[in-house]
Amino acid sequence: MEAAGAVGDAAMAELRERLAAGGQDHVLRFWPELDGAARRALAAELCHMDVAEINRFFRRARGDGGGAAAVAAGLDARMEPVPRDVLGSASRDRGLVPGWESRGLAEIAGSRVAALLLAGGQGTRLGVPYPKGMCDVGLPSRKTLFHLQAQRLRRLQQMAEEQHGTACHIPWYIMTSGRTMESTKEFFQKHRYFGLKKENVIFFQQGMLPALGFDGKILLEEKGKIAMAPDGNGGLYRALGLHGIMDDMERRGVQSVHVYCVDNILVKVADPRFIGFCLEKGADCGAKVVEKTNPTEPVGVVCRVDGVYQVVEYSEISLATAQQRGPDGRLLFNAGNIANHYFTTAFLKDVVNTYEPQLQHHVAEKKIPHVDITTGQLIQPEKPNGIKMEKFVFDIFQFSKKFVVYEVLREDEFSPLKNADSQNGKDNPTTARHALMSLHHCWVLNAGGHFVDENGTRIPAIPRITNGRSAASPADVNDNLKDASDLPIQCEISPLVSYGGEGLEKYVKDREFRTPLIIDEDGIHELVKNGM
Ligand code: UTP
Repeated sequence: MEAAGAVGDAAMAELRERLAAGGQDHVLRFWPELDGAARRALAAELCHMDVAEINRFFRRARGDGGGAAAVAAGLDARMEPVPRDVLGSASRDRGLVPGWESRGLAEIAGSRVAALLLAGGQGTRLGVPYPKGMCDVGLPSRKTLFHLQAQRLRRLQQMAEEQHGTACHIPWYIMTSGRTMESTKEFFQKHRYFGLKKENVIFFQQGMLPALGFDGKILLEEKGKIAMAPDGNGGLYRALGLHGIMDDMERRGVQSVHVYCVDNILVKVADPRFIGFCLEKGADCGAKVVEKTNPTEPVGVVCRVDGVYQVVEYSEISLATAQQRGPDGRLLFNAGNIANHYFTTAFLKDVVNTYEPQLQHHVAEKKIPHVDITTGQLIQPEKPNGIKMEKFVFDIFQFSKKFVVYEVLREDEFSPLKNADSQNGKDNPTTARHALMSLHHCWVLNAGGHFVDENGTRIPAIPRITNGRSAASPADVNDNLKDASDLPIQCEISPLVSYGGEGLEKYVKDREFRTPLIIDEDGIHELVKNGM
């Protein structure tokens, strides 16, 4: 073995032995070809890698019984839908919503609520070379996802302060990964934390794991570089412990945490209604869901299996089960998971200290570019050639002692950004932009405003809610709106003006507007026709 530069010969020999014992010493196959810097980098990466643990994860994950195996294991027969007594619905329990909201706002006013953003993903489907939160989907304001979320937090703090007369803050914990940390931090610095106090925006980093071939062998991205990937959004729990985040929450007096994904443009960060509902129910863990209306939609559903709450993926159940309907005509398993959760800090602490090691990795088969170990050629596979191992954020539901579910309307709260526009599918920048603008259009109509076309003729209002369900599902919106010109109403309201549609009457009631209409903290920007 040639010297590794910063790593001594003895350390290098020990490393090689450890790799060999774990059947992973092929990762040093190109060592003789590497220059000093590459050797140092590879040795440093490998020194921190627990090969025995990775092999153990692989063996466990491979035997996890997901997908077809789960169907074969009769998962369908053991599933029960969410019972009504643990379910709150923003549309079906409308009378209760104001009470939940004021409870949540009181908690925020007491600085007992934190938001926790999952932003460690690689965003491979979207394919931009920067973290997803930095995406600008082409809104009139050109605000990015991070910007919108920060402003929603600012507005909420302001609402809580106004109602309770006390200064408060919502700490914002942002989980990044080795792939997103530096650029995310720089972006926040450059934008001065979007008006939030720097000390209330706390970054921490999740772990990474090597990508493996189907045989469990670690893949090389380059001759001197391991193919590493973040360990899934459920890597959260290990990261919370490693980086002392639970202690930080305790120091700040945080008792409730809202955990959510970076890519949902409509996300109601630290939603006081959801938080208030969970508090009223005395829950330690809650999931916000949207109604799954199409049996074949590939979304996981929240349900009970053998009496324990979990998310069951579409691929784990038969079509017949997915198609079952209840007496109300809705799908029986309709609680579509949107990775939007409530946890008490006490529950999170138990998870971090006790349950985390029990969480199993899920296996995602992926096309992983890698260096062929015999030829040294870089291979760009056309079909899946290996696996990434990921934990999921919802895998801790099983440990909850009091679990609740909160259902919201999809068009009010959920439009994820997953794909590039060029893929011409769903969940892309165009659908995200349209979802936000059509929601804001509805807010204006609900507050008594009207839109007129270039001839001054009123544009008919879109009927929005029928029997507690939306007239047009997002799937319809996605199908019907192929490009920006298909959307008649361009309307954007700054989160600093309105968090969820409140407080708009003073701007729009009995007035007519031409589009594009932007309402922000500086006022109304458009061609305003005469007040009526
Ligand atoms: P997705 O599973 O959609 O992954 O993440 P992704 O990285 O955004 O996109 P693809 O699959 O590579 O195209 C859902 C949420 O979980 C976060 C993401 O940042 C997103 O908010 N996430 C995902 C993490 O925080 N860490 C991970 O390891 C994976």
